[in-house]
Amino acid sequence: MTLPTTARHVLVTGGAGFIGSHCCERLLDRGDTVTVIDDFNDFYDPAIKRRNVALLVSHRDGARRFRLVEGDIRDRKLLRSTFDGARFDAILHLAAMAGVRPSLEKPDLYFDVNVVGTSNILEEARRAGVRTFVFGSSSSVYGVNESVPFREDDPVEKPISPYAVSKRAGELLAYSHHRLYGTSCACLRFFTVYGPRQRPEMAIHRFATLIEEGRGVPVYGDGSAKRDFTFVSDVVDGVVAALEFAARGGYRIFNLGESRTVELRELITLLESALGKRAVIDRRPDQAGDVPITFADVSRARAELAYCPRVPIEEGIRRFVEWFRAERADRSGAARGGRG
Ligand SMILES: NC(=O)c1ccc[n+]([C@@H]2O[C@H](COP(=O)([O-])OP(=O)(O)OC[C@H]3O[C@@H](n4cnc5c(N)ncnc54)[C@H](O)[C@@H]3O)[C@@H](O)[C@H]2O)c1
Repeated sequence: MTLPTTARHVLVTGGAGFIGSHCCERLLDRGDTVTVIDDFNDFYDPAIKRRNVALLVSHRDGARRFRLVEGDIRDRKLLRSTFDGARFDAILHLAAMAGVRPSLEKPDLYFDVNVVGTSNILEEARRAGVRTFVFGSSSSVYGVNESVPFREDDPVEKPISPYAVSKRAGELLAYSHHRLYGTSCACLRFFTVYGPRQRPEMAIHRFATLIEEGRGVPVYGDGSAKRDFTFVSDVVDGVVAALEFAARGGYRIFNLGESRTVELRELITLLESALGKRAVIDRRPDQAGDVPITFADVSRARAELAYCPRVPIEEGIRRFVEWFRAERADRSGAARGGRG
């Protein structure tokens, strides 16, 4: 692992979430000070986010180098006092309403948090003189891309969900800050991230729960949809390298994927074998907003961030299932303890 030349203070928005909590752990490990701002909303069980934060608090240096600000990135007053109360060297902006399908139900909420919230963070950063900004964007900005694998300079004018639009808007807001105020930005297009602590509504986690409980696994269309799945530790490598990149200046978009595709039905087979159980398939029609394929060309990230995905899906699924089983055993133990 490369150590930064000087330890820094990083503001991580959404640091209580899945990817954010892994990034915070790595930043604490390498000697940075971390402030998290998170509103613990109920998009999924906030108790999961509390447990993620408890891990950070209990880090060997958590008492000294970790701080939590509980609140909403749409709250300008709170943002102002957060930026006035500390000197941040960099911002890792991950707070967002995530997920394609739910964005079709609540587009206004997605725009409010993902666009207005991102603008708020950039504005407060500008006011406070913080010039290093890393943004968690998404492969969904590509929409139904004509060429595969997806390259950062492919046209992205055909998004097919409010979520995708909101993420592209975040990249454009970052660009305007770069041009107007010299903010250095790396926008990272994450390709379906999975691993321990994955959001419970995401496919791998949800499918594992359904298979484990013998319930039907919904398969939309014929199961041939392909996704590029990225193990969370690979994404964290990319994020840390992007923080270094942004500290040197510029504006750049990077794909962070494994650069390999897996069909939905193959994914189910991998889960079945890791769990040692057969899935009950529940066939459904295609879903609006879903794209047939995501596939990252990561040559830019390889060349400029020395990004190199290390965990293939077979290994990643095994590690996920190991965590998933341990987590379920812990929860059911805690529930029994609570009753007794
Ligand atoms: N997980 C993926 O596969 C994936 C793929 C592409 C992009 N992304 C992006 O990466 C980021 C992290 O994703 P994740 O999977 O860890 O999701 P997550 O939901 O676990 O994390 C997001 C965190 O942001 C917080 N948050 C949401 N709205 C907020 C607000 N208004 N104010 C303060 N905090 C708020 C949430 O409470 C949560 O803890 C998101 O921006 C997401 O859009 C994720």
